Amino acid sequence: MTSAAAPDSAVRLSRRDLLAIDDLTRAEAIALLDRAERFAPLLSASVKKLDTLRGRTLINLFFETSTRTQSSFELAGKRMGADVVNMAVRTSAMAKGETLIDTAATLNAMSPDLLVVRHASSGAAALLARKVSCSVINAGDGQHEHPTQALLDAFTIRREKGRIEGLTIAICGDIAHSRVARSNVRLLTLLGARVRLIGPPTLVPASAARWGVEISHDMRRGLEACDVIMMLRLQLERMQGGLIPSQREFFWFYGLDEDKLRLAKPDALVMHPGPMNRGVEIDSRVADDPRVSLIEKQVRNGVAMRMAVLEALACSRTTGETEP
Ligand code: CP
Repeated sequence: MTSAAAPDSAVRLSRRDLLAIDDLTRAEAIALLDRAERFAPLLSASVKKLDTLRGRTLINLFFETSTRTQSSFELAGKRMGADVVNMAVRTSAMAKGETLIDTAATLNAMSPDLLVVRHASSGAAALLARKVSCSVINAGDGQHEHPTQALLDAFTIRREKGRIEGLTIAICGDIAHSRVARSNVRLLTLLGARVRLIGPPTLVPASAARWGVEISHDMRRGLEACDVIMMLRLQLERMQGGLIPSQREFFWFYGLDEDKLRLAKPDALVMHPGPMNRGVEIDSRVADDPRVSLIEKQVRNGVAMRMAVLEALACSRTTGETEP
């Protein structure tokens, strides 16, 4: 089967893969946000399907758990008309000891067009990309990056605030273990936001001093004049040793509740990539308040954003294809 023709309006990317935000130029990132804007209304349409990726194959390869990202890529692929395969890693040959490289070679032999990978090790997606001939999308590698989460966050901010440039955006909590924080810092600064990291010294890496951001260890002061507050999950599973005295104390100093939210701008909006630890980094009265919380919109916007990314990577590789 041949693929459907790539639409003229599809974004063309210079890189084959999306492994980190640095794979995108500023112009490419903005073009992807613009393209996602075109796909967003489709999610409310009665028929939600396009045929742009008809004949293309997308494999989801998730070595770590996921609710939002995996289902979002699956829906995005299906809505673009692709054949989508979700590899069940726990029941695959990897459970029998097959290596990541051998798994990559096996999947590559089936000629997929797009491989979406999540792995607990930083750099796993890049390693895999060197072994396959299709486009690889990093859906989260260890503490390194989660570029499509940052794109959907930027897309959500731009939709709600009308711009990103000039906004003050706080990223709060467990920065040290967060791939979402790393990708968001790269993208939001690339797009002209002023980014402020807020967290205890044990959860803000020393390298953050070189990221071109402001750093505050006092949440109450750090939230002053913020337009957007992005809360992060406390990643207890990645922590070695006692980096916080207790979850209760962490919430007292760094959890976002209604009192702390009042210290930001009156029209400040709240984000969280999920999954949330309610009562640890965020109070339910903030997370569930539709006047301030963008959390459900982030999930919804993720599908449109990933449609734009899939289309761009698939269509950037389109060459003169012929019938078999
Ligand atoms: N935001 C995010 O990556 O969520 P999942 O772990 O559910 O995919």
